[in-house]
Amino acid sequence: MRIAIHPDAAAVGGHAARILAHTVERKPDAVLGFATGSSPMATYEALARHRRDGLAFDRVRGFALDEYVGLPSEHPESYRSVIDREVVQRLGLTPGNIRVPDGAAEDLEAACRAYEEAIRASGGVDVQLLGIGANGHIGFNEPTSSFASRTRVKTLSPRTREDNSRFFGGDVAQVPMHCLTQGIGTILDARALVLVATGTAKAAAVAQMIEGPLGAFCPATALQLHANATVIIDEEAASELQHSAYYRHTEANRPAWQLP
Ligand code: F6R
Repeated sequence: MRIAIHPDAAAVGGHAARILAHTVERKPDAVLGFATGSSPMATYEALARHRRDGLAFDRVRGFALDEYVGLPSEHPESYRSVIDREVVQRLGLTPGNIRVPDGAAEDLEAACRAYEEAIRASGGVDVQLLGIGANGHIGFNEPTSSFASRTRVKTLSPRTREDNSRFFGGDVAQVPMHCLTQGIGTILDARALVLVATGTAKAAAVAQMIEGPLGAFCPATALQLHANATVIIDEEAASELQHSAYYRHTEANRPAWQLP
């Protein structure tokens, strides 16, 4: 796991965006994995600057991590809407190239199988962008999720519904109870993982992910199993790490061929 600690959220977003932009420069039809929530917004902002500087995203293909069950896709907080607004429009992606799990499908299990098949048919995800929940979830793989799990229906934890109620006017009753999410096994199939986290609310989960033992109760510890995972965090999210001096030393001495 490569660990980069930055002073603030804008620098975190800038670093993650450089990795994604570098991927698209080398492979204009790269397959990117998109996260939603607050954490990746600084990354999308920074990527929009790469677009303004001339990087074309129109051939990029993409898959979202997850979607609520039971929200119509046109609801402003459905992840389909968020991805369209924050990613597709901002970066000039081709709408038909970007898929989000279908949380309004009649047959949710068939929708999950179709999603897995679409990822496989694309040739697989080149870089998957991730956030982390305060309870250690990645995607919506809540604590106790199997490390071998694939795209499926999950029940959101009370903590996640509470945390996400800010997107629903502060009313937790409006937050759907269920979701579709890529599994941990699905996420680990991506060729590279980039996880961004900022703020003290994430500090305990970040410390557990990096320094804790592997365990299903902190799904993000699964990143320890991936051969190409980069964790990019700010000082606040790093504040509970026991060995941050070591990560800073290692990152500062990374050879040029490992950049960005
Ligand atoms: C969103 C997702 C989640 C979020 C996590 C953190 O697609 O998969 O894992 O990344 O809940 O959310 P924020 O960034 O809003 O704190």
